Amino acid sequence: MKKNIVVLISGRGSNLKSIINATKETGYPANISLVISDNSKAQGLNIAKDNSIDNIIIEKSSFDSKKKFEDDLVEKITQHNPSLICLAGFMIILSKDFVNKFKGKIINIHPSLLPKHKGLNTHEKAINSGDKYGGCTVHHVNDRIDDGEIIAQQKVIITSDDTADTLKQKVLELEHKLYPKVIRGLLS
Ligand code: GRF
Repeated sequence: MKKNIVVLISGRGSNLKSIINATKETGYPANISLVISDNSKAQGLNIAKDNSIDNIIIEKSSFDSKKKFEDDLVEKITQHNPSLICLAGFMIILSKDFVNKFKGKIINIHPSLLPKHKGLNTHEKAINSGDKYGGCTVHHVNDRIDDGEIIAQQKVIITSDDTADTLKQKVLELEHKLYPKVIRGLLS
């Protein structure tokens, strides 16, 4: 029996796409039962639609408070009883209350070798710090930015001709392999 996962996005959705592709492989243990975007313009919504996956928009600006926004997220997610909630480019920091409601079930992918370079502009930070390697990390989510326990990482050498853009492309390719692999590992 495949386990349900819910994917939360805010933008392009290339990681969502890589997870969708993986779910089509024989024996993959997960099925995406819902995609939630906090941004009505997220390109990832079209990817969900093209693949006939239930998708909804829950915008923070439609609520009086972050709590009410999160209450709605909780309600919609709970209906799917997911084994995992996968953040894939989801740009909102979730509260402690939210994280505690789904203890151990929320994971995120971040484009750096955590604990280095939390937050934004990770590739620029890696190059400016003279790092030898860039990479990505899948980690458990807590209520602090890019801070939860690390599950897996993949690294790539930063060459002297790398720019933030070229490194971003290299790391994105790794992300697309690592995230589906971690989900498989956690749910098998
Ligand atoms: C990825 O680089 C991911 O690591 C980060 O946000 C980006 C999302 O890209 N958290 P996409 O929307 O999956 O294409």
